[in-house]
Amino acid sequence: MSSFFYILFLLSLPLTSLTNGDDDLIQKTCKITKYYDLCVSTLESDPISMVSDTKGLVIILVGVATANATNTSTFLSSESLSTTNDTTLKEVFKECSDKYAYAGDALRASVQDLASESYDYASMHVMAAVDYPNACHNTFIGYPKQIYPQEIAHREDVLKHLCDLILDIIRYLDNN
Ligand SMILES: *[C@@H]1O[C@H](CO)[C@@H](O)[C@H](O)[C@H]1NC(C)=O
Ligand SMILES: *[C@@H]1O[C@H](CO)[C@@H](O)[C@H](O)[C@H]1NC(C)=O
Ligand SMILES: *[C@@H]1O[C@H](CO)[C@@H](O)[C@H](O)[C@H]1NC(C)=O
Repeated sequence: MSSFFYILFLLSLPLTSLTNGDDDLIQKTCKITKYYDLCVSTLESDPISMVSDTKGLVIILVGVATANATNTSTFLSSESLSTTNDTTLKEVFKECSDKYAYAGDALRASVQDLASESYDYASMHVMAAVDYPNACHNTFIGYPKQIYPQEIAHREDVLKHLCDLILDIIRYLDNN
């Protein structure tokens, strides 16, 4: 996660929560989501989670989802994929790489909304982030000569599941 997220995240922390966070809060928070195991394992891999309130936890998850989207964008623009002589296929990969970069931008934008507790806007940005992997998938469907690569299908699933659990937690924050 970039230092940018940590700074925003620390700014968003009420001082009292620095002593309150723990594994219980991680489990309690993840229980309200559709993907409990993914939620817990993702949060437990970042030690900052242990000193975070619920808002801090969702910001950590947004950081991981952003890293996933950016990483997939880089993967799609990598040498091994772009050496094909098929110019249409080259365009498909390029378009997909752009889509994942936009997903990263949308997720990044949601961090500011979360920090200012503008939960409607935060949800809107995360929902936009979910649409971009769909757009990539559809680009492949429109190009039947190339099957949708397994590697990208897997990355699409991880990013969508991360976004789904982020949306579950934002909905909870908005109602409490
Ligand atoms: C993407 O998310 C998964 C699940 O949390 C995580 O294991 C993986 O490290 C992430 N990838 C990147 C590049 O952040
Ligand atoms: C991003 O994905 C590539 C595979 O394309 C992997 O080798 C690399 O370690 C990943 N980067 C991060 C930061 O997880
Ligand atoms: C791509 O085109 C170049 C030049 O026409 C040719 O030398 C090369 O073998 C081609 N590569 C593939 C994978 O078809």
